[in-house]
Amino acid sequence: MRETAANYPDLDSSRESLYRPTLCTVDSVCDLTPTEKLFRISRLDGKGFGHRPGQFVQVSLFGHGEAPISVSSSPTRGAYLELGVRKVGELTTAMHTLRPGDTLGIRGPFGTYFDVQAMRGKDVLLISGGCGLAPMRALIQHCEGHGDEFGKVTVLYGARSPEDLLYKEDLAEWAASGKLDCRYTVDEVPSTTPWDCNVGVITTLIPPLDLDPQKTVAVICGPPVMYKFVILGLREKGMADKDIILSLERHMKCGVGKCGHCAMDHLYCCLDGPVFRLDQLKGVKGALE
Ligand SMILES: Cc1cc2nc3c(=O)[nH]c(=O)nc-3n(C[C@H](O)[C@H](O)[C@H](O)COP(=O)(O)OP(=O)(O)OC[C@H]3O[C@@H](n4cnc5c(N)ncnc54)[C@H](O)[C@@H]3O)c2cc1C
Ligand code: FES
Repeated sequence: MRETAANYPDLDSSRESLYRPTLCTVDSVCDLTPTEKLFRISRLDGKGFGHRPGQFVQVSLFGHGEAPISVSSSPTRGAYLELGVRKVGELTTAMHTLRPGDTLGIRGPFGTYFDVQAMRGKDVLLISGGCGLAPMRALIQHCEGHGDEFGKVTVLYGARSPEDLLYKEDLAEWAASGKLDCRYTVDEVPSTTPWDCNVGVITTLIPPLDLDPQKTVAVICGPPVMYKFVILGLREKGMADKDIILSLERHMKCGVGKCGHCAMDHLYCCLDGPVFRLDQLKGVKGALE
């Protein structure tokens, strides 16, 4: 049995803290789309969460259960967590009724993270689709705030339509910052909607990139169907699997390597992931199908 607590030196040293939710309060809530809201959350005891870009937390609401949600804000922005949540079922529907001042439980942060130290000095290519912008946003915020640590930082983001784009204010701010090369695309545009970026699936943004495969790290977050084709596009650009990082989503229960719900062959998505290097997933059944 792997020693779960050893993976989380930043958590309070008691192993119970892996299972016991910390009481938190909602600082603010805003609408991202008709089905997605952004929550800013702080601990009631005033401490930070010790999270890193790429990690997730288990959100709990009494009487409604728990669900894993990616942390959407960089710790460099503040001690709070921001969570972008799509209303799909029991817990997330209850979450969408929360107002500032309400309380909720948080376990974690859990899981592996984007290793920003290993990306230092490299060009960084950040590719996300749909909800995948939630974990990616924390990394984009980090890269924007530490531009001198990286080479060229390129952000590719795709959604079904302009209405489905998440974090629209951030997308505009990143594009205007001059620090990031931002390229956005949507699958289709209603004739009445203004749109001056690309139309087409996310993979159409890859061939025009001026990319040096020897000095680039690519990070991909998105729906499973996106991975296969984005990986093909990156390999065609000469990128090696060791330089391609992915964040995977699996059905989870415990979030800490105990229940087996998120198993992919010999790996647990919650403990060995959700962030993996592509070469780590070679031969792992169910990882990318
Ligand atoms: C590491 C990780 C990070 C995630 N980050 C986010 C995030 O940032 N924002 C966000 O909105 N959601 C995120 N999710 C997905 C979220 O955890 C699920 O949508 C969650 O089950 C919703 O809980 P619920 O009680 O509202 O839905 P339920 O009532 O449990 O289920 C509603 C529907 O969603 C399906 N479902 C349940 N779990 C998953 C899952 N893991 N993946 C896909 N479908 C599922 C169910 O089969 C059912 O059809 C993440 C999942 C993982 C594993
Ligand atoms: S969610 Fe329980 S082992 Fe991963």
